[in-house]
Amino acid sequence: MPLTRRRFLAATTALAALPHTALAAPRKDLTAAPATRQLAPEGYAATDVWAFNGQVPGEMLRYTQGDTLDVRLVNALEAQDTTIHWHGLRLPNAMDGVPDLTQAPVAPGETFDYRFKLNDAGTFWYHPHTNSAEQVSRGMAGVLVVEEPEAPDVDDDRVLVLDDWRIAEDAVIHPSFGAWHDMSHAGRLGNYITVNATPEHRQTVRPGTRLRLRLVNTATARIFDLRFRGLKAWVVAHDAMPLDTPERVDRVTLGPAQRTDLIVDITAEAGDEAILASVEREGTFALATFPVAGTAQRTRPAPLPLPPNDMPQIDLENARAVPLLMEGGAMRGLPEGGTYEGKKMDMGALADAGQFWAFNGQVGMGDTPLLAASMGETIRVPITNNTAFPHAMHLHGMHFREVFGEGFGPWRDTILVAPGETREVVFNAHNPGDWMFHCHMPSHQMSGMMNWIRVS
Ligand code: C2O
Ligand code: CU
Repeated sequence: MPLTRRRFLAATTALAALPHTALAAPRKDLTAAPATRQLAPEGYAATDVWAFNGQVPGEMLRYTQGDTLDVRLVNALEAQDTTIHWHGLRLPNAMDGVPDLTQAPVAPGETFDYRFKLNDAGTFWYHPHTNSAEQVSRGMAGVLVVEEPEAPDVDDDRVLVLDDWRIAEDAVIHPSFGAWHDMSHAGRLGNYITVNATPEHRQTVRPGTRLRLRLVNTATARIFDLRFRGLKAWVVAHDAMPLDTPERVDRVTLGPAQRTDLIVDITAEAGDEAILASVEREGTFALATFPVAGTAQRTRPAPLPLPPNDMPQIDLENARAVPLLMEGGAMRGLPEGGTYEGKKMDMGALADAGQFWAFNGQVGMGDTPLLAASMGETIRVPITNNTAFPHAMHLHGMHFREVFGEGFGPWRDTILVAPGETREVVFNAHNPGDWMFHCHMPSHQMSGMMNWIRVS
């Protein structure tokens, strides 16, 4: 129906009459462009990065549940197409940011408008879905926090973006994107770990302080094994979705793209410090240090669960099983070959094409989806990792749960599957569209571990 002047006036009046809170937040530009940033410790040169709004991590976006996100992506990169994928959001398919699947790639000098309602609260992140092996490694990743209408009772709420960088001695980002060794082995592991793009997060706190720590792993391959000292920690959410009951933990494993929201109580005394550390092959490193000083906070009872997001039913009894077999990579290879761009190829020919991995014999995106589900159908996917490396499997547009006998694990959007393991996930196909299902280590994604599902 054409928008006549009269109808337009009527619409404007109706809008003016709405209470202020119903109005969408004003549009925000996110400009992807080269920038310079002091990444390496002081004394080293500054590093040329690619950034969103000049910041690494990209400018933090904060909204409240129920708001409408309204962002214009401006591509000011010199020579690469880009997009924004809103990781972990259950959004309309056309807003998912996957080039050639949900939208056209955004060329340099062009823009794309993302606009959708934020139905879920939680800790999310955003990153390009074009040449991510290079774009994410150069710094294009930011956090999107959607707050609960009523925040939990904490003294402070902090986002800790864990990342690692592969930098050369002159503090230049090593340009070995898509190196075949990384693709066929454990991905692009870095040599310099950062928290919010600094060597370490430091924050002085009073004894007994209760913090909400939103941990986000934006690394392209590193799996963080986190331990604590001088604090008591509860997991309240994984991948943005609240646990029914906060879980007391002494360690957290965070694979690429995963998020964990912790509530921590500082137990260290004044004059001491609390530490969040990462266990690496080279040793244990403090990622966040909280020197403790001042008078004690009142002590609180164990934290309450966060208000749940509205999750769909899982009908395990009537679920359809669609197994996923991961194969390939160094050590195991693809002895049976695989289908790549419509052609059956042997392992040698695949390697020549820079392809090393397959899902159910399919290397990279096929013309037909890995699985076609009808709306509301429950699908169980036993994922078998028959490779010599761990993989971080991510489903777009919907969260899944792991199946444990009769019970379920927490809702997640990314699951780490270790070599030799089978982990079964189940989800309700409640969001229509074409959705990526891939390993979130871009080196693996670009060399075969990338496919899609269709919900209609
Ligand atoms: Cu974080 Cu395909 O995405
Ligand atoms: Cu992988």
